[in-house]
Amino acid sequence: MKTIAATLSLLLALSVRASPAPPVENRAPIEKRAQCAEWLQIADAVATRLQSNYFNAGTGNYNGGSHWTDANNIENIYNLMLATGENTWASLIDQSYLGQAVAQQKATGVSPWAGIVSGSWDDSQWMILALWKAADYKIYIGADPTPYYNSALSLYQLVEGAWDNTCGGGVWWSSADNYKNSITNELFLQVSAVGAILFPNDSFYLTNAKKAQAWIAQSALRNSQGLFNDGLVTSTCANNGQTVWIYNQAVIASGLGALYATTKNYALITEAEVTLDAAISQLTSGGILKESCDSATTQSCDSDQVAFKGIFMKHLQYFLDRVNNATITAKYAGFIHAQASGVYHYGTNSADDIGSVWYAPNAGGSIFGSTSSGSGLAAHIVNAKYGACNVNL
Ligand SMILES: *[C@@H]1O[C@H](CO)[C@@H](O)[C@H](O)[C@H]1NC(C)=O
Ligand SMILES: *[C@@H]1O[C@H](CO)[C@@H](O)[C@H](O)[C@H]1NC(C)=O
Repeated sequence: MKTIAATLSLLLALSVRASPAPPVENRAPIEKRAQCAEWLQIADAVATRLQSNYFNAGTGNYNGGSHWTDANNIENIYNLMLATGENTWASLIDQSYLGQAVAQQKATGVSPWAGIVSGSWDDSQWMILALWKAADYKIYIGADPTPYYNSALSLYQLVEGAWDNTCGGGVWWSSADNYKNSITNELFLQVSAVGAILFPNDSFYLTNAKKAQAWIAQSALRNSQGLFNDGLVTSTCANNGQTVWIYNQAVIASGLGALYATTKNYALITEAEVTLDAAISQLTSGGILKESCDSATTQSCDSDQVAFKGIFMKHLQYFLDRVNNATITAKYAGFIHAQASGVYHYGTNSADDIGSVWYAPNAGGSIFGSTSSGSGLAAHIVNAKYGACNVNL
């Protein structure tokens, strides 16, 4: 836990940067904002520790992570570099298991992705998002994004093939074809809608984005509280009543925001706000996100679950980027700052590792690892862009 005194001494030690180079986050008309140097500096310290303590350049993986959480961490590092304009971890993508597979596909012309994702259609889509983010960075430094785009397309085609008419539509969670769940379909909306922005000539992206949005809207995935449960009962297509994981409440918003950016259908924003606002009122403690398994005193989440809050924050950022509306940005600014403050004052240890518990000081329940550190990092990155520029709150 960081004390205010520690914060003040850190602030004194800061050399506030000149305004960072403008991010080239996507080809989309994304709002460019001045970012908060103090919070970017904090994010940088966390990223430095994440890379030195957890990233294994030999294997291309993060210790304690899995392919999908690693993809999220790589995306976080590139988000940070695009925000600051720095090149500190420029080689990360090519050292990672993702970049190794991209290089293999480039060299052989054969897609290795089916073997890597092993029929996991949610994991495939986290990889697409990481590859597209790395491509943004390659464009930013004047390098060729094409190999990353080609690999992302190979992954996309695998997922697209997992759509069928069971329960009226939707992609399966995995090649076992036995579960239609929220995250896989929210991601399919998100990658399809972003694909439509990145590749406007490939009309299948927009077609799929509209199809995914329409199917999700008429499905039972969202409950009467406005929150997405884990998935559907396959035999009845009813909501299965399983956990309302926090990440599910914002990946839907980033997809709806991206589809809004293309269609200008304002109802999509309103739909996203229903779930974001339900999460902020129901899945928080003292205004700070608290996963159902989070506990300040007892370690009870697994290494996947501790990544979810940061994914919520990252996809809230993507939603605000796409919506690009000052009223809506202002609406979420206080919430965003509260999360980063919780991460900083309650979640972070003296080594700049971040634990899983953001809502209260750690009393033995906070779980530390590469996935929890990456989760906290995402909260700092969005806060530098959209939260209050004040470390002492
Ligand atoms: C999209 O199609 C237009 C019209 O055919 C063409 O001029 C343009 O180069 C294409 N853009 C891309 C990125 O392929
Ligand atoms: C921005 O959001 C506000 C609040 O939802 C809305 O009233 C306004 O029409 C939006 N502005 C635009 C340009 O869409």
